[in-house]
Amino acid sequence: MAADSTSAVSPAEQAGSSTYVYLAAFFAALGGLLFGYDTGVISGALLFIRQQFGLSTFRQELVVSVVLVGAAIAALGGGRLADRFGRRATLLLTAAIFVVGAVLCAAAPTAGLLVAGRVIVGLGIGLSSTTVPLYISEISPAKARGWQVSLFQLAITVGILAAYIVDYAFSGSQSWRWMLGLAVVPGLVLGIGMFFMPETPRWLARRGRPEQARRVLEKVRGSADVTEELQEIEATLAASQERGRWADLWSPTVRPALLIGTGLAMFQQITGINTVIYYAPTIIRSTGIPSASGAILATAGIGLVNVLMTVVSMWLIDRIGRRPLLLAGTGGMVITMGALGLLFRTHVNGGSLATLEVVLLMSYVASFAVGLGPIFWLLISEIYPLKIRGEAEGTAAATNWVFNFLVSLTFLTLVQVMGASDSFWLYGLLSVAGWIFCYALVPETKGRTLEEIEATWHKTHPRTAS
Ligand code: BGC
Repeated sequence: MAADSTSAVSPAEQAGSSTYVYLAAFFAALGGLLFGYDTGVISGALLFIRQQFGLSTFRQELVVSVVLVGAAIAALGGGRLADRFGRRATLLLTAAIFVVGAVLCAAAPTAGLLVAGRVIVGLGIGLSSTTVPLYISEISPAKARGWQVSLFQLAITVGILAAYIVDYAFSGSQSWRWMLGLAVVPGLVLGIGMFFMPETPRWLARRGRPEQARRVLEKVRGSADVTEELQEIEATLAASQERGRWADLWSPTVRPALLIGTGLAMFQQITGINTVIYYAPTIIRSTGIPSASGAILATAGIGLVNVLMTVVSMWLIDRIGRRPLLLAGTGGMVITMGALGLLFRTHVNGGSLATLEVVLLMSYVASFAVGLGPIFWLLISEIYPLKIRGEAEGTAAATNWVFNFLVSLTFLTLVQVMGASDSFWLYGLLSVAGWIFCYALVPETKGRTLEEIEATWHKTHPRTAS
């Protein structure tokens, strides 16, 4: 289903960006920073939280994983909120939730309240994972949409790295409250920034406010010549057979996109990324690197590679397109997981093999960072019809959180039962399945307007009576 890139380039595709659109994308992307920070920070904080409250293993698991449950629920509901109340209003709500959650976590006098705070933070993460990509993709011009939406993934990776660093910095003083509480700062900046940013033109047009939509378009494109883009949006809305209900997710024009979005959501997680992101120090220690500080340093190195390779992907994504990056990245994950499985099979720990294992872990993360990492979030903001974009994207994001939860919960047990080598091979095999899925089903969306992408589904499945 690869795209033909030969079609004539319309003015709407050519439309440029004003400084304003960069600002809007920047502020919205802070939602990603909080996503990365809040999912990453707990690994370091948990040690001290456990001591302070004397937590059982189950309660520790609860503190870690309720975030993912909250995120799954909010991702699903967030799409509906974004469709009904707007992308901007939902982002303002997201910021408020992040701030309240961070304050509650930092001040929690009991373990119960800490768990409650983590649920609230999870709701913020889920809302941001649905709304941020949606918001950025709907204000960006087609030719820059790839890298601008990928700012979200970049912010996630920076958030994860910041969490590793903050954990390290506060571990000497055992200040877990600071670790969790610092998230207030980006939460406030997100809220204040979004207060001054506009609603997206597409949501405004859908709510029957074409004049407001025009004003926003003029502002974000830095040009008064937006008539064509606006007409394209309105024509798409008029032609769409969806009415914006849950049942529409199954309509013939949405079903293929739904399959692609939820499939990518699943593969992004079951190929094992968070076994490395959440458990890197544990894996690294098991390679035979003796010191805890060596393991922490190697973990920070992995976080840095994640950030840098996301930048590389952003640089390439609007040039060479989504499919080549996705296929190359997932291919890299197959190779690195295969090689890791092989090395762990040798059972020879320490020395140069340990270094090689860390290098392979880094290469695996690098492969994810150029492909499935940013491109999943990008595609689910691009491929759905406007009338149900929020709900459909929310479904994909929620699927991602459910699989994230399942993989994080089962990883340590899997290693106990199957051993590290077979576990890595399992993730490698699932990466092969992911590669085939991407090759067979994922369309190229580079350079096309959201309206053109929507039109391709209507072409594949001509209008049926509804
Ligand atoms: C994934 C997260 C993951 C992160 C790592 C995101 O795209 O959804 O689960 O922790 O990338 O960079």
